[in-house]
Amino acid sequence: ADPVKVALLGCGSVGAEVVRLLHEQSSDLTARIGAPIELVGIAVRRAGRDRGTLPVDPSIFTTDALGLVKRDDVDVVIEVVGGIEPARTWLVEALRAGKSVVTANKALLAEDGASLHDAAVEGGADLYYEAAVAGAIPLLRPLRESLHGDKITRVTGIVNGTTNFILSAMDAKGSGFSEALEEATALGYAEADPTADVEGFDAAAKAAILASLAFHTRVGAENVYREGITEVSAADVASAKAMGCTIKLLCIATRTVDGGISVRVHPAMIPRTHPLAGVNDAFNAVFVEAEAAGQLMFYGRGAGGAPTASAVLGDLVAVARNRLSGSRAASESSYASLPCRPMGEV
Ligand code: HSE
Repeated sequence: ADPVKVALLGCGSVGAEVVRLLHEQSSDLTARIGAPIELVGIAVRRAGRDRGTLPVDPSIFTTDALGLVKRDDVDVVIEVVGGIEPARTWLVEALRAGKSVVTANKALLAEDGASLHDAAVEGGADLYYEAAVAGAIPLLRPLRESLHGDKITRVTGIVNGTTNFILSAMDAKGSGFSEALEEATALGYAEADPTADVEGFDAAAKAAILASLAFHTRVGAENVYREGITEVSAADVASAKAMGCTIKLLCIATRTVDGGISVRVHPAMIPRTHPLAGVNDAFNAVFVEAEAAGQLMFYGRGAGGAPTASAVLGDLVAVARNRLSGSRAASESSYASLPCRPMGEV
């Protein structure tokens, strides 16, 4: 079969790992898909940066992302840049033109997933985003596909590795928040500006995506109650310990008794016997409760170049296969609009 032609937007730690894996696993991917994958362009912010170690022809780098997306020969667009604009413009353009999109952009999906889903329906294109929540953990496709015959009642997760590392350090060593944050920064877990992590914005974006898929509705970041971990003190952690509990930053998405849903992110005390209590360091885990399936636990690495690239490549295989077979993932445009309840009304 003809090659599936791919444009990559972004070449940071995840993008570079995608390039490496595409190269290393080229023949396996061809066998699995039934056609070779050809990387035809990589959009980067700055030209001329030394990317000599990447196994690609340097001439495929460009700073014109929109021009790359618009190229007639591009079948699939992978976006690992992040942020709302210009990523939204690029992806809407690609989807409307019938190009499949694989993205890791949790902020964009939580802010304006509706625009992307609508553009996918308009263009008859696939939109996959496994890497947007909990990195390598296969989680969104189980929610989106495997559990589609069931009724999910509640999703409880640790979906931010940085804050879980900090809270784990506070619990294990009795350190204060600032000290634990310094350790997370020194080890490269926390960003130079850790605001999105420690204030819960990153977890809230992921909670919105999880709730949308679990409850077949559209939940935006603005519907999520959010509280970060900056106020959690060593004394709080010690009190929790004395009660046989530990403190975790949880995202909780649940159905409410009146037929609505509630989605929230905040520090919570959980008993040490709870499956999420043993999830430490920068690991992520998501606990799903469904009427027929019962309790399910998804666990693994939620961040990092290679784990995130693993999820991106899995999506790439799925969309490439769909293209070859002329099928596409189920449309999410017909989702119901369930009322999203503020915290106090649950
Ligand atoms: N900052 C995020 C985390 C990265 O710490 O989990 C992965 O989305």
